[in-house]
Amino acid sequence: MKDKWGRTIGYLRLSLTDRCNLRCRYCMPEALTSVGHEAVLRYEEMQLICRAALSLGIDRFKITGGEPLVRKGAVAFMESLKAMKGVRSVTLTTNGLLLSDALPDLVRMGINGINISLDSLDAGQYAGLTGGGQLSVVLEALERAAAARVNVKVNAVLLEETQDQILPLARLAGRFPVDVRFIELMPIGYGTTLKGLTEEAALAVLRRAYPDLAATEERRGNGPASYYRSGQLQGRIGFIAANTHGFCSSCNRLRLTSTGFLKPCLCYDDGVDLRAIVRSGQEEETICQELQRAMARAVYDKPAKHCFAEQNHISEHKTMNQIGG
Ligand code: GTP
Ligand code: 5AD
Ligand code: SF4
Repeated sequence: MKDKWGRTIGYLRLSLTDRCNLRCRYCMPEALTSVGHEAVLRYEEMQLICRAALSLGIDRFKITGGEPLVRKGAVAFMESLKAMKGVRSVTLTTNGLLLSDALPDLVRMGINGINISLDSLDAGQYAGLTGGGQLSVVLEALERAAAARVNVKVNAVLLEETQDQILPLARLAGRFPVDVRFIELMPIGYGTTLKGLTEEAALAVLRRAYPDLAATEERRGNGPASYYRSGQLQGRIGFIAANTHGFCSSCNRLRLTSTGFLKPCLCYDDGVDLRAIVRSGQEEETICQELQRAMARAVYDKPAKHCFAEQNHISEHKTMNQIGG
């Protein structure tokens, strides 16, 4: 369905949990008080919301967190989603630490893509950035996923302190058939506490190593990334440059936090409490109709663009582990 700015909204990001087994410095550097068990939507409640979303033409789903794989039953939930009539794609964004174990089931259920967050290939630096993450475990998962021919993308946030990692990370796209995407640090939640780099700066480094790097129009997923190709690389190099190349005018998405708060845009605190509807005690059909109405209104009222310049405080539904990236 279309919002009031004429954009077609067909993609929902579902955060399964705000918990994470890492402490990335730009995301959740400390163990934020995780919301209580009761507050988090049960899988059946999420399925109901997805059913309502499907009836509005939202048929692509991204599973995020926190770290989605820390939640028990995450893969079975993805499988149930994938089996729902009308679903076009179910993809996962993960830090990769628990991925090797989950991979066989994900492959079997036909996961449409896995994005792995990886900001440095220096084991010490990776551990420092993530609060103790073990690089070798993530690399092993990446290799296995690529070998299983899953559509894999690496997500690397562009930080001043990791600029010497741009080329090592890009080389992953040479060794494996995976896309490597560089993401401009967004001033959201703890993202305000680190120094980022621009797409332009990263591109200048990459062009020196890959002089044939050329922009390509091909679509490689459902997200806002733009892509480049090089004859030296199997995968593409991508950029998600929310700061310097805003993509809000082609935004296609809504977000649902693990507590059932529907956010039309990652930048604003506004949203709709779908959990209250799901738990209203009414008949399932009535709940579904109310969900549809609430979601349709949220789509219609979706803000035209992000507000990085004005709102960068850390508040409820505002840190990346709650929003789901
Ligand atoms: P695919 O391209 O379909 O694989 O997914 P994606 O890029 O939408 O998802 P992913 O979870 O890998 O997110 C990559 C980065 O894009 C993260 O840093 C997200 O925070 C960022 N991102 C995703 N959606 C939006 C959005 O609507 N606005 C902004 N500003 N950033 C977004
Ligand atoms: N800016 C840009 N990307 C971020 N992510 C988390 N916080 C930020 C931020 N402030 C990324 C993670 C992960 C994805 C879901 O979001 O690195 O790849
Ligand atoms: Fe966890 Fe992802 Fe946030 Fe890192 S960016 S702390 S892996 S949710």
